[in-house]
Order: sequence, then structure tokens, then C-alpha cells
Amino acid sequence: MMSRSLPIAGRASPGRPIDSSLDLEEEIGRLKKEKNAVILAHYYQDDEVQDVADFIGDSLQLAQAAETTTADVICFAGVHFMAETAKILNPQRIVVVPDMEAGCSLASGAPAEKVAAWKARYPGSVLVSYINCSAAVKAISDYIVTSSNAEKIVSSIPTETTILFAPDKNLGGYLNKKLGRTMHLWPGTCIVHDTFSERKIVGLKERHPGALLLAHPECDDVILRMADYVGSTTGILNFATKSDKREFIVATEPGILHSMKKASPDKEFIPAPPEANCACNECPHMKKNTIEKVYLSLRDLEPRLEMDPALMTAALVPIERMLALSK
Ligand code: 13P
Ligand code: SF4
Repeated sequence: MMSRSLPIAGRASPGRPIDSSLDLEEEIGRLKKEKNAVILAHYYQDDEVQDVADFIGDSLQLAQAAETTTADVICFAGVHFMAETAKILNPQRIVVVPDMEAGCSLASGAPAEKVAAWKARYPGSVLVSYINCSAAVKAISDYIVTSSNAEKIVSSIPTETTILFAPDKNLGGYLNKKLGRTMHLWPGTCIVHDTFSERKIVGLKERHPGALLLAHPECDDVILRMADYVGSTTGILNFATKSDKREFIVATEPGILHSMKKASPDKEFIPAPPEANCACNECPHMKKNTIEKVYLSLRDLEPRLEMDPALMTAALVPIERMLALSK
């Protein structure tokens, strides 16, 4: 049970006041039933947003959940490219995003026209795009991958094929090394995963000699080389849950610690620190969504994601290819 005095400046949207006597968790539950809505949330969401979600997962699992849902309304508590994928898979359903401004540095750093011009320089090549990209980039891609299926999908492409990989150079570099490939890499990075400090992580490992370092493949190579495990957010969660070790340094967005602690209350999770003394290991885009905005999006069915039908049709092709290759 949660009681709040609202509106909270800067949290609920201006002009959309919330009755301060409401228990938002209860109201969200009621609205979900009334509107036959489902909340899909990423692990980087605030704890209280994760707690009202029907499903929490990594990018692949969220796309799979969007593919199979029978709800009339999908409230996507994540970032814009993830909600776009849900809409592309469900053109007839209503997809609401608590904060439509929740973007992604990888997606915004790879404009479709520039990626198309890059592709045109390599006739006969295939474009493999990380799911963290716009629908317009997906529409010109041959394959979409996530951090949990990228190894499998890239391995399925013949070795003699020229591959362009966009937009994350860290994930692409990791795959090149692991699979012995020579994919050309788009020079994009995640503003969150690129900030982890090698120096501070080395210090943490010295102070916690039994701790394992778990890292997302969006991290810089210097962090990945030190890591005991590299994988998607779900991979990191599952690894820690199954491990018989007790301490973990977690090199991904610290929102995931909520689910990790829930799964293993007796283990210790230490968020990997950024180099600067800032909270820049938190994704400013993911954190734009709040419980108040989740409530408003279900109450008003706004902001609603609308997309160009032709763009959705073109982007669906590599997304469906990815889902089929992930089974
Ligand atoms: P996952 O697919 O591993 O959840 O990653 C999504 C993401 O945006 C990581 O920054
Ligand atoms: Fe994008 Fe990085 Fe945020 Fe993930 S953590 S959504 S890659 S900016």
C-alpha cells in the first residue's frame, strides 16, 4: 500500500493532476483489469515500477512477451525503441509509454540515413543491428539481435559474408573477439555502460576478493576482459541466482539490483561505479518513467505510440527473423 501527496512537480506530467488520496498500486491494478492492459517492464525501471509490472525481462524477453500477449493495451515501461518493437509486433493494439521522451543513446547515435549511407558503401554486405536502434534502422536491417541472442544469430551467418554491426561498438567488438569475426562496427556506445571505471572496479575486487564481476556486453572491452561473466540483464540475474558465490560486482544499470536482491536475498550485490562522482551509471532515459506516469498512461491511454504502417511492416521482417532464430 502506498499513499502519496500528488502532484509531484516534475514527476507527474504537467496538466495531468493525480488525486492525492489514491493508492497508485491499487489504482494501477484496477485499471489493468478495467482496460485489459498488461505492464511490460525492463529491469532498469524504478523498483516500484518493477513491482507493478506483469512481466519484467531483458529486451528479447520483452519482445517475446509483446509477441504473445492477448491484452488490448500494452503499457511499456522501458525506452522508446522497446515500445516500438512491441507496437510493430502488435499494430492493432494500443501501446502506451509512461514517458515518450525515454530514449537511448545508442538509438539516437545511429540515424537511419547515416546507417543507410554506411551500408551502401559495402555492396553485398548484411546489416546486423542491435535491437537498441530506431524502427527506421530496423527497417533497413537484415538481422536484429539482442545481447542474449547475438552470438547465436551472428554465428548463423556464413563466415565469408561481410557483416556491418550497428550501433554498439562494444557489443560488436565483444562478438568479433568471441566468434573470431571481423564485422565492421558502427561507432556507438551506451552512455551508461561506457562510464564504468576500471580503476574503481579493480579497487572493489581488492576489497571483495570473493566477489565475481558480472558485466553487460555494452561495457568497454577493458571491463569485459576483467569480467567473470558477460551477458544480458536476464543472463546476469540468472547467473547470480544460480551461483554458489555470495558477492557480485554488477556492471550494468543498477535498477537490476532490485530483481537480483529479490531472487537472492542472502547475497550481496555491489553496483559497479562510474569514473566520475556522479549517478551516471543510472540510465537517465529509463528513469524518466515513474509510477505516477505509469498510472497516468493507463488512466488516460496516453501518451500513445503511433507509427507509420509502412515502417512497421518493413521493420517487422528482421524482428520476426530474430524471434524465429531465438527459439
Ligand atoms: P538487455 O537486453 O540485456 O536487457 O539490455 C537492454 C539495454 O538497453 C541495456 O542497456
Ligand atoms: Fe540505451 Fe544505455 Fe539506457 Fe540501455 S542503458 S536504454 S543502452 S542508454
